[in-house]
Amino acid sequence: MSQKRQLKLGFMLHGVGMGWGDWRHPDADPTASTSFAYYKRQAQLAEAAKFDFLFVADSVFITEKSSPHYLNRFEPLTILSALAGATSHIGLVATLTASYSEPFNVARQFASLDHISCGRAGWNVVTSWLEGSAVNFSKSSHLAHDTRYRLAAEHLDVVQGLWDSWEDDALVHNKASGVFFDPAKLHALNHKGEFFQVKGPLNIARSAQGQPVIFQAGASEDGKNFAAKRADAIFVHHENLDEGKAYYRDTKKRAAGFGRDPDDLVILPGIRPVIGSTEEEVERKYRDFANLTSIENALSMLGRPFNDYDFLQHDLDAPFPDVGAHGANSNQSTSRKILETAAREKLTLRQAALRFATPRTEFVGTPEQVADAFQRWLQERGSDGFVINVSLPKEFDVFVETVVPILQARGIYRTEYESETFRGNLGVPVPPNRYATSVAVAAE
Ligand SMILES: Cc1cc2nc3c(=O)[nH]c(=O)nc-3n(C[C@H](O)[C@H](O)[C@H](O)COP(=O)(O)O)c2cc1C
Repeated sequence: MSQKRQLKLGFMLHGVGMGWGDWRHPDADPTASTSFAYYKRQAQLAEAAKFDFLFVADSVFITEKSSPHYLNRFEPLTILSALAGATSHIGLVATLTASYSEPFNVARQFASLDHISCGRAGWNVVTSWLEGSAVNFSKSSHLAHDTRYRLAAEHLDVVQGLWDSWEDDALVHNKASGVFFDPAKLHALNHKGEFFQVKGPLNIARSAQGQPVIFQAGASEDGKNFAAKRADAIFVHHENLDEGKAYYRDTKKRAAGFGRDPDDLVILPGIRPVIGSTEEEVERKYRDFANLTSIENALSMLGRPFNDYDFLQHDLDAPFPDVGAHGANSNQSTSRKILETAAREKLTLRQAALRFATPRTEFVGTPEQVADAFQRWLQERGSDGFVINVSLPKEFDVFVETVVPILQARGIYRTEYESETFRGNLGVPVPPNRYATSVAVAAE
């Protein structure tokens, strides 16, 4: 991390929006989730504001109940490869499931994006919580939660092993001697594991940043350990600063427990700011934001971490219903947190749904108030930065125009990029090539 801790900021490219009703806002473009022009404009706005990265979420299963953005949108690596050509410094983080992909292909795809972007690629490693995903990949059932994490760890082992196939100086390109590469510096992986057998080598060399940046977003016990052990960056949700500080302390401690320098890992909560120039405008805009989500929308959103559970079958004003084990094999941490919050605060189903769908956080306020919240989270070690997701169609423009200058004036956010690569700007180390180091060690 640079001497004076500065915020690391990501922007979540999410087309028509995260909420089920966002597309109905008068300023919203209902076609945004498949509009390259929309993505390009947002990407260039984020880069002009010196953001660290763009983030594209993903899932591989939809039903007629899925949100408008999830129903019709770009595949992450494809859209980010196109945006690599329209940007020069901002990181490009694509979500891709380990549960339904082949490591050799994944290694190639991300290494290609890393080369196309001159060292700006990132992979958000997910295990796909929607159990229905299996039907799109010739599988009769979805793997169990713990098995998914075991598979994801092996998948990442293979991908990172393949990324090291070529030592950084293996490609000689000596036209006089006709030597294209040094065979002693090209390595086969010969991986044999529980889920994968992959020989290698990979048919693309390492990039300017060595390897793409690894993101993770799991928050269950397995998820936290996987993230603390393997991620360069963690994308997470928190209700408030106290929760953020507890998670931050615990995760950095876990990382140290795995023999890592805790500063080599950045923790980035996702937030949806709503900004008004006056208190009255803040209230009006928050109402606009909340009114975009009908109770039916909120119940669909609530059902998602419970594997698309249908909450409409229950009495809205009765205590939160018993949903049995729904969620346990799906989005474990989020479903568990909702159950615990509803029980602790004795919420009705309606209250829980609206609370979850339209959170009123300390990132709802005037530009000064929102900047104060950012500074507080950074300085009290609730986070190393944030991932911004849109609440209202034009809210990202408002954030860039009104909050970013305050953060820069306070010296807690960059005014210029420090590096050409994503790792360089994020302040996370370049992984040494395992073969080069082993040769160096042997030579010693
Ligand atoms: C901020 C955030 C963003 C996420 N983005 C995705 C995503 O794009 N695709 C996906 O399949 N899962 C995504 N997840 C879900 C996680 O990968 C993980 O499945 C979820 O947090 C549940 O993890 P757990 O079962 O370990 O609790 C996201 C989670 C969080 C907190």
